[in-house]
Amino acid sequence: MIRSVIKGFGAYLPERRLTNFDLEKMVDTSDEWIVERTGIRERRIAANDETTGSLAIRAAREALANASLTPNQIDLIILATTTPDETLPATATKVQAALGMTSGFAFDIQAACSGFMYALSVADNYIRTGAIRNALVIGADTLSRIVDWTDRNTCVLFGDGAGAVILSAEEGQGTTTDSGILSLILRSDGANRNMLISSGGVSASQSVGKILMEGREVFRFAVENMSKIAHEILSNNGFTIADVDCLVPHQANIRIIDATCRKLGIPSDKVILTLADQGNTSGASVAMALYDGITRGRIKHGDLLLLETMGAGLTWSAGLIRY
Ligand code: UT7
Repeated sequence: MIRSVIKGFGAYLPERRLTNFDLEKMVDTSDEWIVERTGIRERRIAANDETTGSLAIRAAREALANASLTPNQIDLIILATTTPDETLPATATKVQAALGMTSGFAFDIQAACSGFMYALSVADNYIRTGAIRNALVIGADTLSRIVDWTDRNTCVLFGDGAGAVILSAEEGQGTTTDSGILSLILRSDGANRNMLISSGGVSASQSVGKILMEGREVFRFAVENMSKIAHEILSNNGFTIADVDCLVPHQANIRIIDATCRKLGIPSDKVILTLADQGNTSGASVAMALYDGITRGRIKHGDLLLLETMGAGLTWSAGLIRY
């Protein structure tokens, strides 16, 4: 059985830091409130000459070098983003050109904070059907460009960044001891799309709009559905929570992560956390948490990883990967 195995990883964070103390000067908030209610202390903001595409290119170059692959060995690039550089063409094609990749194909997908998992799922299906061998999957966002910097309900939450992985086809036994993606579950609930939405869009208003969120409702939805989907993916694959070596959750709010862990019964020392320094980087969040866990030695070869996301759509997802 063909499996999609992680062969390389990369990430990029813009240099400019925006601390909670900086935000105190912009809106009616405090470092104390933000830390207590979200766990975030600072986030990175793209420079004026940086874009989602330029962040993605930095992460992609590192992932390629890490996998020891040349651009033309990549068959497919999928970029998950909510903040593309232009309305058309896809920002993934900018990455393709910058890498000097003259073959294969590239496209964007949009599933907000769940985007990286949706992209992994699409690439995994191309690989497992034998259509391609190597995919570059990127999550990158510059949500700072669509945040309303006068709205304290949202502007304290988000940051910019990019994370990337190379997935390659490898023959497995078809058992859960195989390396690679073992299972992915994607969900969406369009009936609740207004809970987290932009105030405009290309076709609706010919403007990009700003982020609007009913925070408390999204919070409740996230805790309930992220624990449910985690149980579902574990039992579908014959695992229990004790089999999980590392939880790699979407980094939206420490209280969402803590509540989900309590419901699941997963100890906090198994959880990868980046949100204190990065905030919520949307489509990049899980990709960068994965990068952080691997590069800090928290995630080791053979570990069973449980990935989870929750975002606008509403979308949510879970994944089991043996690293
Ligand atoms: O990645 C996509 C998924 N997004 C999420 O998962 C976000 C989910 N939601 C959340 O993380 C939380 O709901 C927030 C962090 C957004 C808000 O935390 P909360 O504990 O749910 O606060 P709340 O919205 O219930 O507001 C409590 C109070 C309100 O004041 P009143 O009405 O009680 O007087 C807010 O106006 O806190 C106030 N408040 C703030 N105060 C200081 C809201 N934002 C701020 C702020 N600083 N930045």
